[in-house]
Amino acid sequence: MLVSHLEVSAPGKLILCGEHSVVYGKKALASAIDLRTRLTARRSSDRLSTFNMHLLTVDRLIQVTEREFTAIGPVCSLDEGVNKLLAERADREPDKQLEAIRLLLMSTPGLKWAHLSGLCVEVSSELPLAAGLGSSASLSVCLAAMFHLLITPHVQLLTEEERNDINTTAFAIERIFHGQPSGIDNSVACYGNYVVFERGAIIDRFTSSLELPIVVVNSRVAKQTCEQVLKVRRLRERHPVVVDALMNSINEIVTEFVIAIKNAGSEPDELVQRINDLVTLNQGILHSLQVNNLQLANIIGLAAKYGLHGKITGSGGGGCCFIMLDHRPAQCLLDELTSLNFVSFPTKLGCQGVTVENIEF
Ligand code: PMV
Repeated sequence: MLVSHLEVSAPGKLILCGEHSVVYGKKALASAIDLRTRLTARRSSDRLSTFNMHLLTVDRLIQVTEREFTAIGPVCSLDEGVNKLLAERADREPDKQLEAIRLLLMSTPGLKWAHLSGLCVEVSSELPLAAGLGSSASLSVCLAAMFHLLITPHVQLLTEEERNDINTTAFAIERIFHGQPSGIDNSVACYGNYVVFERGAIIDRFTSSLELPIVVVNSRVAKQTCEQVLKVRRLRERHPVVVDALMNSINEIVTEFVIAIKNAGSEPDELVQRINDLVTLNQGILHSLQVNNLQLANIIGLAAKYGLHGKITGSGGGGCCFIMLDHRPAQCLLDELTSLNFVSFPTKLGCQGVTVENIEF
């Protein structure tokens, strides 16, 4: 059975707490957000034509012919595929999007040209790129889900086992995009809801009835995660005891944050105050770790002027932060942020993971 029309989507992520300390074996808590990447595949009636993929956000068209598909074999495991592609890079600037597709072509068991022939794929995203909101992971998950469904098409909901497979494939694609990803981004994009991550593995996943109104603010300063991770590593080399104590404190913040979100039924005002405290405590530590910058400090300082609590999300040094809206109207704050050229997105937490929106045969 060949898929004639497929629509899948996957969410971005927000690290609520635990960035940087997660690199040192501590826990991090992340949530799926309601900004999604969407992939639509339609099969043209001309069955002999090429496989086309258009990445709309970067205006990139990737085309694969039958001849190229045949030349890419033989089929290998995901690990072998990643290693082969990384080894082939040599000194060349890698074409990571093309490599991601080549990885899927060489390591999807049972894939035949008939599955791909005439397929026109379009990918769009509501997520800003390179802002720490997991845009590449949501793309990786959509691609992995598409290839999975091309081989095993069905209309039922994705099973847990299928999600595990999609997540494994998406992690391999993330290795192509980022070298050594922790795996937290693709896990959140795949399973959705809230995910607690430790030492490269999911240690807890949960849903919550809590509706935490937040706004994500993009500082519009480009950031490099590896630079910020290196900065913290250098600081830790200079002050190991102090920095380890800060990492342990972040771990305790994550523990309390998880308890707060899970016990969503308790007294709402008290809950909001506890979460606000944890957000500000974590931000203070990130500032001490020197991953704050002028723009992020400015945004979080503005929020404080309105009595609201915010923190960096992700590596810092640029990218995004979030502000807890506290169920109060925050239009003045949002207007002020816009006037300063920052981009804000009111955002929902605990959203669905990868979803098959439509499939036809
Ligand atoms: O900004 P992001 O989404 O790349 O998040 C980085 C999170 C860190 O803890 C700083 C690094 C990592 O690999 O976990």
